[in-house]
Formats: sequence, structure tokens, C-alpha cells
Amino acid sequence: MLPASGTSVTPAEGLPRPSSVRPRPAPAVALADVQAPVREGLEDVKAELRRIVDDDSPLIAGVSHHLLGMKGKLFRPTLVLLSAAATDHPEPTANTLAAVLELMHLATLVHDDAVDHSALRRGMPTLNALFSHQISVIAGDFLYLRALRELSRLGDLQALRVLTEASVEMTRGELRQLTYGDPLEFGERDYEALIGAKTAALFGAACEVGALCGAAQYRAELARYGERLGMAFQVIDDVLDYTSGQEVTGKPGGLDLRERKMTLPLIAAMREMGVAGRSRVEALFAADAPSEGDIHAVIALVDEYGGIAYALRRGALYAQEAEQAIAGIPSTPAMAALHRAIAYVLDRRS
Ligand code: IPE
Ligand code: IPE
Ligand code: MG
Ligand code: MG
Repeated sequence: MLPASGTSVTPAEGLPRPSSVRPRPAPAVALADVQAPVREGLEDVKAELRRIVDDDSPLIAGVSHHLLGMKGKLFRPTLVLLSAAATDHPEPTANTLAAVLELMHLATLVHDDAVDHSALRRGMPTLNALFSHQISVIAGDFLYLRALRELSRLGDLQALRVLTEASVEMTRGELRQLTYGDPLEFGERDYEALIGAKTAALFGAACEVGALCGAAQYRAELARYGERLGMAFQVIDDVLDYTSGQEVTGKPGGLDLRERKMTLPLIAAMREMGVAGRSRVEALFAADAPSEGDIHAVIALVDEYGGIAYALRRGALYAQEAEQAIAGIPSTPAMAALHRAIAYVLDRRS
């Protein structure tokens, strides 16, 4: 039995308000609160990002300019820098590694938006919408390879190993999502394995390479923390897809249903639905081009059968596991921020 959740979600305009969703006060922890101890380092990370992707080709320069102009949260570089500072003595290479992490993340977003047919990212047009799918494929590769080139320049074999392993996992996760056969047979265990690969692996790697730059004695604890935090992060992303639109997240709401993705709110709700409810989901998945109304009706159904509430409670359990992973690490300003990051992830709005 999962514990009751104190979390609720603010729906965006354009999506129906699921009945379990109540208006929320301002978040208790803002992203700026998490990033406060590494604010200066994050400015360096932005400069490092520009340096690493710098190129003479006008097309590559144009694509990079567009991508770096999008305002992402820089959450993974934040985790690298905070983990590196966990015991107060970070190495200067942490900023470069943090930029490498963000580039790998950005590369997966570019590829992910192409395969998800998504037109909006960070409130701006995706590369596939602005240019083409072909350019997205090559641009994603370019970002990955520049990140790898930077890693080889650093000569840090341990970081190279951790980050290439995480990238392989992400690829496995994204592929699994495209090839899971009958989506309606996809259960919570399958979902856990999928989000562990596509999202949590990189979160774990961010904290692990951060630890290697300053708090190596806590490498395992920080890696576990990052991995569990990544699970919570993806569950909340999947909830936000049901409850919020582009005004809130900078990406279209309801896209997961449109793409026939089985995420936790739907998986949990389907366990509770009778034949009639399940057949409405089946009809949506069978439709060539479901209407907005069809999507909204299934969102309401998922909410009615407790899918959103269940996913929020599951996210809170992953967050508890993240908390337990770092409970034994002595407090420093960076560690306090890593604790705050847990509350931020659960209550984030974008
Ligand atoms: C989006 O990640 C992809 C997921 C794993 C859900 P973020 O929500 O961190 O995206 P940006 O970097 O802030 O755009
Ligand atoms: C996470 O999955 C994407 C990656 C880890 C690359 P989603 O497909 O849910 O991410 P968004 O919603 O497009 O950001
Ligand atoms: Mg996507
Ligand atoms: Mg999503």
C-alpha cells in the first residue's frame, strides 16, 4: 500500500482539470534554491557548453545557437556540481564534466523529440519542427560526439566509463519505448525498467561523476541518490504530461497518450478500470489520429481511476529512497541543496 501523497498538480489551460488536482501554493523549493550554492559554476558551465559545440559550419553554428538559446533547467549539471562540492573540495574539471552531461542530455532530447514527433521543447520549436528529422538525427549525434571528444580531451577514463555506460542505457530505454509490442500489456515493472534506463541512468551518472571530482568516498551513495531521484523526476514528468500544457512545461501536454506511450498514470488507472474503461483506452490507441476531445476524455478517465494520484505517491517513494541514500553524508551547503533537490523534483511545475 502506498502512502497518501500531499502533492497536487496545477493543470494548464488547454487541458481539462483532472478532478483530483487542486490548486497549489507556490512551490516550497524553487530551482534557484537548489542551484544557489553552484550559481557561479553554472555560469561557467554555460560558457563551457558554447566552447564545446563551437564550429565553423554555418548550419552547425545555427543549430547550436538555437539549442543553446533554449532555456533548460540545467538540472543535471546542477547535480554534477553539487555532488562535486558535497565535501567542500571540488576539482575545477567539474564544470567541464557538468557541461558534458548537459550536452549528452541535450543530444537525447533532440533525438527524443524527433522520435516523439514533438514540436515544442523548452517553449521553443524543436529542431525537427524547425529544420527536419534528418537534421535532428545528425545534430543529436554531433552533440554526443562533441561531448565525447571533450571527455577524451580531459583524459578522465573513469568519467568516460560512467558516462558512456549511462548513454548506452539511455539508448536502450528509448529503443524499448519504441518497440514494446502491445502497449496495453506494458506493466509497472516494465515501466520501471524503462525509466531507469532512459532517465535515471543519466541522473545517477551525473552524481557519480560529480562525486569523482571531490567526494569520491561517497561515490556509491551519490550515484544511488541520483538514480532514485531520476526515477522520481521521470514519474513527475509523466504526471505533468497529463496535467499541464506548454504554458507550464514548455512542451505539449497530452503527448504521451497521443504517442501511445504507457506511462505510470495510465498503467495504474488501467488496473482499476473495468472492461468499458479499458476499451476506451484501446480505442484511443487504435485510432489513426485521435482528436483533442478523445485525449481529454482518457485523461479524465485516468484521473477518475486514481492513476495520477498513484503516480504521485510512487514518485514520493522514489524520492524517499533518494533521501535514504544520502542520509549518512555529513551536512555541507551542497549536501543541503541535494536534500532540497528532492522536494523540488516532487513539487516541480516544469
Ligand atoms: C526532460 O528533462 C527529459 C526528461 C527526462 C523528462 P528536463 O525536464 O530536465 O528538461 P530541460 O533540460 O529542463 O529542458
Ligand atoms: C524522457 O522521456 C526523454 C529522455 C530521457 C531522452 P520523455 O519523452 O517523457 O521526455 P519529454 O517529455 O519529451 O521531455
Ligand atoms: Mg519526449
Ligand atoms: Mg515526457
